[in-house]
Amino acid sequence: MSSRLFEGKSHASVYQKYRFSAPQEVQDIIFNYMGERLTKPYGLAVDVGCGTGQSTRILVPYFQKIVGTDISQAQIEEARNADHFPNVTYSVSPAEELPVDDASVDLITACAAVHWFDTEKFLKEVDRILKPRGCLAFYTYLPDMELHYKDRSEQLTKVVREVHDTLAPYVSERVNHVKSGYKDIFEAIPYADKQRMEKITVKIPMPLADFIGLIQTFSMYQIYLKLEPEKAKDLIVTTEKRLLEIMGVSSTETKIDALMTNVCLLASKPV
Ligand SMILES: C[S@@+](CC[C@H](N)C(=O)[O-])C[C@H]1O[C@@H](n2cnc3c(N)ncnc32)[C@H](O)[C@@H]1O
Repeated sequence: MSSRLFEGKSHASVYQKYRFSAPQEVQDIIFNYMGERLTKPYGLAVDVGCGTGQSTRILVPYFQKIVGTDISQAQIEEARNADHFPNVTYSVSPAEELPVDDASVDLITACAAVHWFDTEKFLKEVDRILKPRGCLAFYTYLPDMELHYKDRSEQLTKVVREVHDTLAPYVSERVNHVKSGYKDIFEAIPYADKQRMEKITVKIPMPLADFIGLIQTFSMYQIYLKLEPEKAKDLIVTTEKRLLEIMGVSSTETKIDALMTNVCLLASKPV
């Protein structure tokens, strides 16, 4: 069964505002892998579970045509409103039934998304639409992140861990795939040419306000908000206050570094 936790309009709009694109380090890994297997020009890329399009836009300079797909109408509407690239189209469709012809795709990506899909059905669909030598890249960041700011990093990270502990009861079991570094999904990929890259650590500078916004995009926060709206809103207010106090600043525009570990699965369909 796939999961549908990203349907709300307000969730989609925090998503559009606070989700960041794939880190450059991960993009380099994907495009180098692809470059070693496919010849240019690259034709079609499909970004599955594209959300509001952050992970789709990174494909724009490389492909003649890009299709971003997501099961959530609200997420796709946000993506369409944000983007006006001539080579990108968006479609509301499940990962397990993609609106794409057989053997037509050079690259399939899924950012922070493949763990929400029905793995078996999705991988069958991937095999149907990939060209021979076509590549897949499924990547995500791990939930355990650090916050860095001057000499306050340890205290800030402790607060972030406490937020995760508060949200732990609301974590979907699918997030276990992420915690295990996508091991099971990797095992299920039926191609001999495949790699699992772990511990890709990246530093993402952002204003504190964006980090607070990012917490609100997490599926577990959205579940908490639905079940315990007052407590969930209070968690955000309290967390912001605590982080500002530790940093010794009053503006949420103050820049911090979020240190995130990513995992990336890469594979190429045999000829
Ligand atoms: C955590 S978001 C990631 C969005 C985007 N790729 C990003 O990097 O910001 C996961 C997305 O997967 C979508 N999703 C979940 N199950 C799906 C399915 N079975 N088919 C297609 N999309 C799905 C959700 O609607 C959501 O937009």
